[in-house]
Amino acid sequence: MGTSRWYITTPIYYPSDNLHVGHAYTTVAADALARFHRLLGEDVLFVTGTDEHGQKIQKKAEQAGKTPFEFVSEIVGYIQDPLWKRLGVSYDDFIRTTEDRHHGVVQQIFQRLVDKGDIYKGIYEGWYCLPDESYWTESKLVDGKCPDCGRPVERVKQESYFFRLGKYQSQLRQYIEDHPDFIQPTSRRNEMLNFIDAGLEDLSVSRTGIQWGIPVPGDPDHVIYVWFDALTNYLTAAGYLQDGAKFQATWPANVHLVGKEIVRFHTVIWPIILMALDLPLPERVFGHGWLLIGQAKMGKSLGNAVDPIALLDRYGVDAVRYYLLREVPFGADGSYTEEALVLRTNVDLANDLGNLLSRTTAMINRFLGGKVPPLIAGEDDGVLAGEAASVYREVESAMSQLAISDALISIFRLVGRANKYIEEQKPWDLAKNGDPVRLGNVLYGLWETLRILSVLLTPFLLETPARIREQLGLDEPVSHYREAIFGFDAHARAIRRGEPLFPRIDTKRASEPDQSPVSAPVTEEWITIEDFQKIQLKVGTVRAAEIVEGADRLLKLTVFDGDRERTIVSGIRQHYQPEELVGQQVVLVANLKPTMLRGILSEGMLLAGSADGVLSVVAPSVHLPEGARVK
Ligand code: MSP
Repeated sequence: MGTSRWYITTPIYYPSDNLHVGHAYTTVAADALARFHRLLGEDVLFVTGTDEHGQKIQKKAEQAGKTPFEFVSEIVGYIQDPLWKRLGVSYDDFIRTTEDRHHGVVQQIFQRLVDKGDIYKGIYEGWYCLPDESYWTESKLVDGKCPDCGRPVERVKQESYFFRLGKYQSQLRQYIEDHPDFIQPTSRRNEMLNFIDAGLEDLSVSRTGIQWGIPVPGDPDHVIYVWFDALTNYLTAAGYLQDGAKFQATWPANVHLVGKEIVRFHTVIWPIILMALDLPLPERVFGHGWLLIGQAKMGKSLGNAVDPIALLDRYGVDAVRYYLLREVPFGADGSYTEEALVLRTNVDLANDLGNLLSRTTAMINRFLGGKVPPLIAGEDDGVLAGEAASVYREVESAMSQLAISDALISIFRLVGRANKYIEEQKPWDLAKNGDPVRLGNVLYGLWETLRILSVLLTPFLLETPARIREQLGLDEPVSHYREAIFGFDAHARAIRRGEPLFPRIDTKRASEPDQSPVSAPVTEEWITIEDFQKIQLKVGTVRAAEIVEGADRLLKLTVFDGDRERTIVSGIRQHYQPEELVGQQVVLVANLKPTMLRGILSEGMLLAGSADGVLSVVAPSVHLPEGARVK
């Protein structure tokens, strides 16, 4: 069994074209997990690579007038640098299936399974989809065509090697039953159980008539099926059959991160190969969702692929990484839009995080001559220390469940709490009223929160943590997750205020999405005062606020309007934490026809203004009685 090494893999990608944002998504997620575990002090092996054999690639190379190896090598070069290099993918090993180390391992494994009788030579008779390199039985065809790609299939009768999947069917089923964490998320686990229960047929694991592949040992007319070759990469990179000590320390893998469409290969064929080799199975296979454009999967074949390099040029590495890691709950499908990327950058990074740093350093300069004050522990209110401590635990627990976006949500809750703390504590008043102990503690707390944020953000963002630390006057790099604990002694360190962390992206250029509940088309037409009077606007107070499960943009508010409490579902979740709103006065449209939103009856609407990705709820500037008319 594995020892302390934490081994994570991505799928190895086909170098048949340049990769797109969908591939970057998996790889950046794996990178964040790898960086997180390194920060925990673990010995991480993070492997990615390329799956270079097979008919499709051979064809592409022919079309390009190159040898297959020349063809793939150019793309592989591009994937390593600039693509993964610029995205900050910190892989420890990049495996190419064309390498000798891999070739040898695949052939030896194949031979072992032949010797064991788990692979046998037989005759394949059935249908074959040439472009997909897949065999189909009559019953699986759709209108007589390939069920995967819809192209014509041909009848074949040929020699092939078969792998006895069926022999291991009940053993695999039992394993999945006994190891609830093996396939995640759970929905994919259930899908796989159903698939297995439908019965596993022996799998053809060789092809004839192709040259671009690894030959079957002793039978060079056959090349080994590209998936058998590809899955084995995980063993090659762990040192299997080459470096016993390394393999001993590394295998089994902790996580195979894959897209949901290849979960089946990783949770049926792959475990059975491992069982046949008497090797332990990976701890978990996590099948994440797809990035969609509209309703369709982003991909080469649909021509809707987005080039990650163009995004990096436009927005910089941290904005792109943040968006990929934060936007979609990890595991689910989610839409990709550039507008959402811009919004995330402007709201979370430029506004919330950037302003926190800029306000904090400005106040330390102004009120304390640019020197970090000591923490007077007995006098501290513990607000930021407490919030930082819960976020510390939440991030650790979210990351252990691969809930990457949840980890970022927690981290940005700390950002939000600190910004709110500034408003509550009003350091400018403390400075005016001569309350130096309180002022010192408040500014220490804010400085310390930013230092903690620089630690917490280290796995996710590449440049920002160091840039925050530079401004905080911290020269030492982040070295361990434990540093994200409140109470660091920074007395008399000198602040070095610098450029804004994230310049706001001009949303005029990247058309702003409709994310405000009150946005309406700009109109040139006049309305009369009578038109306006039809709208009943009232002052209310938010009494309770909660998130609406499964709706990224919605909050459910309970608002007292002077007469009664109403439920209002409002699209402001990306701008407010529920607890920030409780007690806040608002202006509501009181005579708006109630409507069902996500199964909740919403009885009105809040007014809010928005510009450049910042949204603010409209409120009277002094407290008014609830029910007061707004005219
Ligand atoms: N070569 C195989 C994998 C072999 S692993 C032993 C392969 N390669 S691929 O180039 O097609 O990459 C597929 C992977 O890229 C997906 O599993 C997923 O991780 C990622 N994605 C490709 N398009 C994607 C989206 N639109 N959205 C999310 N991930 C996407 O399959």
